[in-house]
Amino acid sequence: MLRKLFSKDEIDEAVKRLALMIENDYDDEKIVFICLLKGSFVFTSDLIREIRNPSRVDFLRASSYGCGTSSKGEVTITKDIEESIEGENVIIVEDIIDSGLTLTRVRDMLKARRPKSLRICALLDKRARREVEIEGDYVGFVLEDGFVVGYGIDFEEMHRNLPDIYVVVED
Ligand code: IMP
Ligand code: MG
Repeated sequence: MLRKLFSKDEIDEAVKRLALMIENDYDDEKIVFICLLKGSFVFTSDLIREIRNPSRVDFLRASSYGCGTSSKGEVTITKDIEESIEGENVIIVEDIIDSGLTLTRVRDMLKARRPKSLRICALLDKRARREVEIEGDYVGFVLEDGFVVGYGIDFEEMHRNLPDIYVVVED
């Protein structure tokens, strides 16, 4: 069963708040947004439209979850970005930081390509579940626990199309 956790309006507000912080921090500098597929495609598309800086968008896919709700601990890059990020201000856009393993792997890989700056923007942060030390620079909501879907986020590839965010609860 799905129980609504954040409405589209609450999400919109959070996205606008994050966008404002980013605009303030980067003045008029160029930003390269790296959308982590698939979960953050909806979030990224809303976020970038609230930010007036000159921007590029690129896409990267890292798989840590097969099917189900718990991490396998292994992170593979299945689709890399297509442009160079050397000397660029890069913001990784992630749906959820959970154990932190995915972002750690992605951040370290991108750092090696010598961007001018590298930050993380995450819509949701399950801080209590962290297995490695990593923090989002811009975080929408902090979640205690629970498995969420909607607004681009899936359970076994379903529910990405829901406009609100729901927590999956046992019937
Ligand atoms: P981490 O490597 O454990 O931090 O896993 C992060 C990734 O796991 C996220 O980008 C999501 O794709 C996925 N994930 C973590 N929690 C959830 C959830 O509650 N619902 C759906 N996907 C999740
Ligand atoms: Mg993800």
